[in-house]
Amino acid sequence: MSEAGISPAKRRATEFGDCHPQPSRTPTSGLGKVTMSELWVERHRPRSVNDMKGQKAIVDRLSAYAESRSFPHLMFAGPPGTGKTTAALALARDVFGDGYRSNLLEMNASDERKLESIRTKVKQFARTAPMPGSTFKVIFLDEADALTPDAQGALRRIMEQYAETCRFILSCNYSSKIVEAIQSRCAVFRFRPLGKEKVLEMVIEVAGKEGVNLEQDAAEAIANVSLGDLRKAITSLQVAASLDSHVRRDLVYETTATAPPEELHGFFLACKEDGFQPARRRMKGILDRFGLAGTDLVNQLHRELGGVTFLDERQKLMVTEAMAECDFRMVEGGGESLQLDAMAARICGLLSG
Ligand SMILES: Nc1ncnc2c1ncn2[C@@H]1O[C@H](COP(=O)(O)OP(=O)(O)OP(=O)(O)O)[C@@H](O)[C@H]1O
Ligand SMILES: [Mg+2]
Repeated sequence: MSEAGISPAKRRATEFGDCHPQPSRTPTSGLGKVTMSELWVERHRPRSVNDMKGQKAIVDRLSAYAESRSFPHLMFAGPPGTGKTTAALALARDVFGDGYRSNLLEMNASDERKLESIRTKVKQFARTAPMPGSTFKVIFLDEADALTPDAQGALRRIMEQYAETCRFILSCNYSSKIVEAIQSRCAVFRFRPLGKEKVLEMVIEVAGKEGVNLEQDAAEAIANVSLGDLRKAITSLQVAASLDSHVRRDLVYETTATAPPEELHGFFLACKEDGFQPARRRMKGILDRFGLAGTDLVNQLHRELGGVTFLDERQKLMVTEAMAECDFRMVEGGGESLQLDAMAARICGLLSG
């Protein structure tokens, strides 16, 4: 996924919670459901960098830092739910031990965009001595891409002023929004969406710990809908399990507002073989059943198109263009129903010839 493809309105779980490895299943009134009283993403957040899934190159370097108990300023960039906040907290814990919080100042730059508040907090924090046995403190500036360019300009100075006693860890989704001068002061780590097998591993592990009966194809469905975002994967599992502790494939697709691949393939096949009206009916059926917005449908069709076996390359290229046009028109304000119909009509025209 490109950085530009990340929705800024990404779902955020309550960050920074510690994870509690205690027995966690909270059985409810005998209905075989799981309550949502605690977020599993927090409960299962790895505590040490070595427990993180995937991101091998990053984990190797961070654990070397942990061993030497020192590190330079760091910048973690990448899409949501791939372990940036987790890595920052885990590294602090690995370096300073369980009492790491007294040596760590967390700030969310989306909340504190004004530099003055950052400067004041950093100054106050940097004035006090690091905890015994350590030579520096850590300032973790989460979502640093929300800082205004002015604030970033001044942050450069602050990073230098306090470099002796403080290390900064910046996390962001869009590294391009961080000025070069800051990037050059940091070791930059680029987090990638997690591979399917890593997502599967995590989801199965969490399901086991939470006492959820997760079917194999449901686990695969979660890996399929999460697109390498582990927060999304674990949240999808928890949402499905809160409805029924026996999690099946259908439930996953229903609760994540995602159409299963066969439905999407069915739409393309109807366009090819059945003509406009049946294809349109199928499309409406998918929209209603899975509660999709028009742009969701187009994005999901786009994702599935690569796996369709009954279309050749040339047809896929043309269909992609038709979908891109429809998406653009909807984003620009074109009526959803008419635009989707127009897309279906065009795809039928392209494929039936
Ligand atoms: N690499 C990973 N290994 C294990 N768990 C992970 C990993 N990445 C994410 N998670 C899980 O997903 C949750 C969210 O991850 P995290 O907060 O680190 O995401 P992030 O990269 O900081 O995302 P954002 O850009 O939205 O802040 C964690 O609590 C953890 O449960
Ligand atoms: Mg984060």
